[in-house]
Amino acid sequence: MEFPIRKKLKSILGNKDQPVDARLEQVCLLLQKSNPAYDWVGFYFADVEKKELHLGPFAGAPTDHTVIPFGKGICGQVAESSENFVVPDVEAQDNYIACGIDVRSEIVVPLFVGGQNIGQIDIDSHTPDAFGEADERLLEMVNFEVAKIL
Ligand code: SME
Repeated sequence: MEFPIRKKLKSILGNKDQPVDARLEQVCLLLQKSNPAYDWVGFYFADVEKKELHLGPFAGAPTDHTVIPFGKGICGQVAESSENFVVPDVEAQDNYIACGIDVRSEIVVPLFVGGQNIGQIDIDSHTPDAFGEADERLLEMVNFEVAKIL
């Protein structure tokens, strides 16, 4: 399936006049604008030695959670599982790090480079149960394209 957003994404990512972080920030902004339920969109990248995730480019409100240990929160769990994590109701999760009181649901999709889980894309929504399979496929495609420039 070809996503209409894919062309824009490729043009942003292919713009070698911009540093990689600037391109990734534009990707976050593009996604945020593409769906009213995407309130916060950001990348975390793994420091494998320290077993930590570090916040990368993002769009939305600044977060205090710029460093997340592997295993902690939804993001930290995905760092270890390497599997998509869709959370319809964040309040039902024990191992969850709140990034804002308005957040109701979340999706985290791992980012692979050369088969290694090197980070993830994370989207928070103020809408309950905002994410489904279409969002998973979209974010897998985004990460696949992002991986090519990392
Ligand atoms: N909620 C995430 C933390 C990151 S913020 O959503 C930006 C978690 O539980 O890992």
